[in-house]
Amino acid sequence: MAKIISIINHKGGVAKTTTTINLGKALALLGNRVLLVDLDPQGNLSQGLGHEEPEEQVVHALLEGAELPQVPISENLWLAPSDLELVDAELRLNNEIGGFGRLRKALRAVKDNYDYILIDCPPSLNIVTQNGMVASDSVIITIAPSFFAMKGLQRLMGIVEQVREEIHPDLEVEGIVFTLVEKRLVIHKSVIDYIGEATEGRVRLFQAFIRKNVALEESNSNQTDIFTYDKTSNGAADYMALAEELASVPAR
Ligand SMILES: Nc1ncnc2c1ncn2[C@@H]1O[C@H](COP(=O)(O)OP(=O)(O)OP(=O)(O)O)[C@@H](O)[C@H]1O
Ligand SMILES: [Mg+2]
Repeated sequence: MAKIISIINHKGGVAKTTTTINLGKALALLGNRVLLVDLDPQGNLSQGLGHEEPEEQVVHALLEGAELPQVPISENLWLAPSDLELVDAELRLNNEIGGFGRLRKALRAVKDNYDYILIDCPPSLNIVTQNGMVASDSVIITIAPSFFAMKGLQRLMGIVEQVREEIHPDLEVEGIVFTLVEKRLVIHKSVIDYIGEATEGRVRLFQAFIRKNVALEESNSNQTDIFTYDKTSNGAADYMALAEELASVPAR
């Protein structure tokens, strides 16, 4: 049965989608069957894997009870795609009883086919992201070190706590991944140290850092993963290290 993980942060542009694609591909290369779920109406995950304007979409599973689409991408890797149509879901799910549990329901039917299911969430804490969290065993929080990162993290941890209290008591925080890291910048080092101290003992900080690496940006615009684009890049090394760390340590 799959381990289901949502990649979350309401802050935009902190590499949620890049992490979903490349952590997923790395886990697939390690021999796991992996499903990537695009839960963002921006559709970046789908576009980043070459699937624009998909006919069958996640939204149909959320609103109409259709089977979750699972498009084969490469060996051991599948995609449940989305595009702007997913915007419809927000309003409708807000008005429907149990609207937060639709993705969990849709995944129940397919999760035995996979080892990992990674859910790429939108930069928001709305009912669509709640669907991701409620469907998940755990969340991974991506953080690009910046002056405002700490404030955002407190809010995010508060929301995770609320989901635990109200709906899903077993939801774990798998850990925090630092992305877009430039170690030589003093601000980055101090934010990473600060978050380390503030969360001491309560949340795992992954040892694997994702460095800023232009090949990652290029692989996204080439609509493929970093291992296919340039397997010798820092980006490929960093995401493989993250996958190995994730696979080796149980969630807290
Ligand atoms: N390690 C990296 N090095 C260089 N560029 C990166 C790296 N990670 C991501 N990027 C680039 O940063 C931008 C934002 O990344 P991405 O789209 O993955 O973030 P996101 O958190 O999913 O954004 P959104 O909140 O809009 O969904 C993209 O242009 C991506 O190619
Ligand atoms: Mg994204």
